[in-house]
Amino acid sequence: MYDQNEAPIYEALQRFKKMRIVPFDVPGHKRGRGNSELTEFLGQNCMDVDVNSMKPLDNLCHPVSVIEKAEKIAAEAFGAANAFFMVGGTTSAVQSMILYACKSGDKIILPRNVHRSAINALILCDAVPVYVNPDTNQELGIALGTSVEQIEKAVEENPDAKAILINNPTYYGICSDLRRISKLAHSKGMLLLVDEAHGTHFYFGDNFPISAMAAGADVSSVSMHKSGGSLTQSSFLLMGSRINADYMRQIVNLTQTTSASYLLLSSLDISRKRLALHGREIFAKTVEMAEYARSEINSIGGYYAFSKELINGGSVYDFDLSKLSVNTLSVGLAGIEVYDLLRDEYDIQIEFGDIGNILAYLSTGDRRQDIERLISALAEIRRRFGKPEAGLLSQEYIDPIVAETPRKAFYSEKVSLPLEETAGKVCSEFVMCYPPGIPILAPGELITDEIIRYIKYAKEKGCQMTGTEDIGVDRLNVLV
Ligand SMILES: Cc1ncc(COP(=O)(O)O)c(C=O)c1O
Repeated sequence: MYDQNEAPIYEALQRFKKMRIVPFDVPGHKRGRGNSELTEFLGQNCMDVDVNSMKPLDNLCHPVSVIEKAEKIAAEAFGAANAFFMVGGTTSAVQSMILYACKSGDKIILPRNVHRSAINALILCDAVPVYVNPDTNQELGIALGTSVEQIEKAVEENPDAKAILINNPTYYGICSDLRRISKLAHSKGMLLLVDEAHGTHFYFGDNFPISAMAAGADVSSVSMHKSGGSLTQSSFLLMGSRINADYMRQIVNLTQTTSASYLLLSSLDISRKRLALHGREIFAKTVEMAEYARSEINSIGGYYAFSKELINGGSVYDFDLSKLSVNTLSVGLAGIEVYDLLRDEYDIQIEFGDIGNILAYLSTGDRRQDIERLISALAEIRRRFGKPEAGLLSQEYIDPIVAETPRKAFYSEKVSLPLEETAGKVCSEFVMCYPPGIPILAPGELITDEIIRYIKYAKEKGCQMTGTEDIGVDRLNVLV
C-alpha cells in the first residue's frame, strides 16, 4: 500500500530547486535566465523546473527511482497492475496499446467511431481493422456505444483477432458493457484495450460508469489532462496483470521523446494525488452542476440535454453524468453554429459543436456562476437566433465502406482530386471535424455521394476540418 499523499516527482523537483545546481546541460534557457521574455510570461517557478532527466530526477524512458515510485503510486490509485506517465497526450497511449497488441497483418476489432489516434496506430503497425458499426440514435444523430452482441458477432467471424478496442465513454458520455466485453475477450484469448480519454473521473468519483481497470480490461489510455486537471498533453497508460509492462515500455519508447517535460510529469503526479485524496467530493460537485445545467437547459425549450434516459442495456449500457451534451437541432441551429455563437457573441468557449450537438466540458475547475452564464447564453441564443428546424442535417455518423487497410491506402500511389470528383474512389487520407476527431473518412475507405455532401455541409456550417493534405479540404487524395 502506498501513501497517496506522496508525490515523488513533485517532491524531487522541490528538493532539486534547493540544491542550486549550476546547469551545463539542456534546456539551454538555463532556468529561464537565457530567455527573459519567456520567463516573464511563464513565471520563474515554471522555468526553474523545466529541466532535463538527471540522476536525482530519474528518466521517463527507463525509470528506476522517483518516476518509478510515482508510477507505482499512480497504478495503485487507478487500481491497475502498472501505470506509465505519458507526455505525448493520450494519442501516444492509444498508439502504444495498439502497437503492443498488434503486429503487421493482425486483426483488431473496434467501433468505427474511434478517435483518429487509433486508426493512425493501424497505419503505423499495419494491423487490419474489423470495424463494428455503432448503433446510432436517430433523434440525436450520434453514434452510441458498442453492444456485447455486436462484439460477439465480430469475434465469431474473426476468431483470429488479437484485440478488441472500446471507448469508455464516448465523447458524448455513452458507455458499453465493459465487464461482459472483457470476459468475452479473455475467453477468446484476445486483449481488451480501452480508450478512456474521457473517463479519468470514473476512477475517482462515485456513481460513475465502471472504469476499464475495474472491469478487467488489459490496457487503458486515460487523459488526465481532460477531466483530471493535469497539464495539457499529460496522460496515463494503465495496464492489467496480463500485460508485460517491460515490453510495453519498449513499445512506448519507440515514439516517446527522450526529453520528457518535468512540467507535465509533476502535473500528473500532483493531479493524481489530488484526485486520490479528494476526487469523490470534486466529482460529486461536477455531477451536481451538470445535473442542474441539464434540467435548466431542458426547461428552456428546443434544446435536449440528454442523460441516463438513453440507457437501453445494449449500445447505451451506461451514461457519464458529468457530460453536458446538448442536442440543438430543434432550436433550428447546428451544434457547430451554437458553438460559434457562444464564443463570438457570449465569450463562452465550449468543447465542441458538431452537426447536431454541443458538448460543454465540466470538470474540477467549474464554478456555479459560469454554469449560469452558459444557461442564460443558450436561452438567449434560442431567442435571438433560433429558426425552424428544416434543412438541417442530423446524422453525425455514416457507416464506412472499407476497401483497403489504412496502412496500404496511406502509402499507396495517390492522386489529388477536387472533392466533387471523388465519389467512387478510395480515400488515402483522413477527413474529420476536430474536435471530436472521429474520422468521417479514414485511409482505405470508399468515398460516396453521401460523404461528400456531409463534408460540404460540415465545412459550410463552420466545422474545423482536418486530416487532409490540402489545408482547405477542397481536394482529397485518392488511390490511383
Ligand atoms: C476519444 C479520444 N481518444 C484519444 C484522444 C487523444 O488525446 P490527446 O489529445 O491527449 O492526444 C482524444 C482527444 O480528444 C479523444 O477524444
